Amino acid sequence: NISALAGTYDAGEGLGGPLRSDALATLPIMQNAFLLVESGRIVSFGPMDLVPVGIPDHDIIDADGRIILPAWCDSHTHLVFGASRENEFIDKIKGLSYAEIAAKGGGILNSAARLNGMSEDELFRLAVERLHEAARLGTGAIEIKSGYGLTVEGELKMLRVIKKLKQKSALSIKATFLGAHAFPPEYRDNHEGYLRLIEEDMLPVIAREQLADYIDVFCEHGFFSPQETERICLAGARYGLRPKIHANQLNLSGGVQTGVKMNALSVDHLETMDEDAIRSLAGSNTIGTLLPTAAFFLRMPFQPARQLIDAGCAIAIATDFNPGSSPSFNMNLVMAMSCIQMKMLPEEAINAATINGAYAMGLEAEHGCIRVGNHANLILTHRIPSLAYLPYAFGTNLVETVMIKGEFI
Ligand code: NIG
Ligand code: FE
Repeated sequence: NISALAGTYDAGEGLGGPLRSDALATLPIMQNAFLLVESGRIVSFGPMDLVPVGIPDHDIIDADGRIILPAWCDSHTHLVFGASRENEFIDKIKGLSYAEIAAKGGGILNSAARLNGMSEDELFRLAVERLHEAARLGTGAIEIKSGYGLTVEGELKMLRVIKKLKQKSALSIKATFLGAHAFPPEYRDNHEGYLRLIEEDMLPVIAREQLADYIDVFCEHGFFSPQETERICLAGARYGLRPKIHANQLNLSGGVQTGVKMNALSVDHLETMDEDAIRSLAGSNTIGTLLPTAAFFLRMPFQPARQLIDAGCAIAIATDFNPGSSPSFNMNLVMAMSCIQMKMLPEEAINAATINGAYAMGLEAEHGCIRVGNHANLILTHRIPSLAYLPYAFGTNLVETVMIKGEFI
């Protein structure tokens, strides 16, 4: 007996692409309902008076007063890394900017130095722990990027860790190759050399060992230009890798337009947008993935979610979990910030964190909503008065239990 089931769809109901505009604000809810799970999948759901008979008592969970939601789909993380970077956090408090920290060898390069000195097993062990904690907060599907190697061995090591996570974890995982996260120091004045390393030494092995589902570039002043971004996307496309791009985080980098031109599945961050970037995104099939906790942590303006939604853009929200700009994998906090700081309605935020997040990972066929046949990846809340209470009571963990593929974790 569930007090409400959120995000319910009929089995045959094709969603026809990520939710936009009014559809984003529409969250189909069934009150006083049941949900039947078998072999890790949702087998049926419906109003309580239609509950199937003959189910043994020990297989029944009474969720009276609780709400069931599809588990969060966190479509942008850097979950594999060597060590936290709280020293830079203190530097930032003292006034240094993200770009200044990067320029003095901190930031991504700091993480790369750490990671290259660590074994695959150690990285895997750390990642498993983080993944488990993220799942306890309600995340059931997740995208994980490389990008802290920046050497052939380092990038392959990260991607092999992600591949092993895919094999060993119950969560659904997508891997993104982000060799173009920063230019390593030895290539600072030889961009051509690093681009060729990506094209000739990294991508062929990644393709042969099937280590990545997507390709990413940090398109930003001081990192990769739109032209360099385009070249890497084209190289990825030769191996069937669709782009998911870091775009418009710190500046109007041209990343959004480049991503749209390259038919990116998503362009992510979007703290810094103008009319042209918004128009380009609205007229495309590319999803804009907003990362409010990164904006919060770096004291950047929050993403203009309302303008994007009103212009007709498809948007998702994600954590950007990483040691430099968002050391949190808490999707519940992302939801709260989306509502409080970006003025998204609770329904919009929930859809952006579930079904649209699934789209942003290419996982929409089996994740992100309550539909017969989908994986039973579910959040069971504490007793709460309404769905809006979730983002409203920010900072409190209102997730009581989480089911991943039919098993409580
Ligand atoms: O998404 N923007 C680039 N990459 C990460 C930050 C990486 C880091 O600082 O380690 C991000 O914010
Ligand atoms: Fe990121």
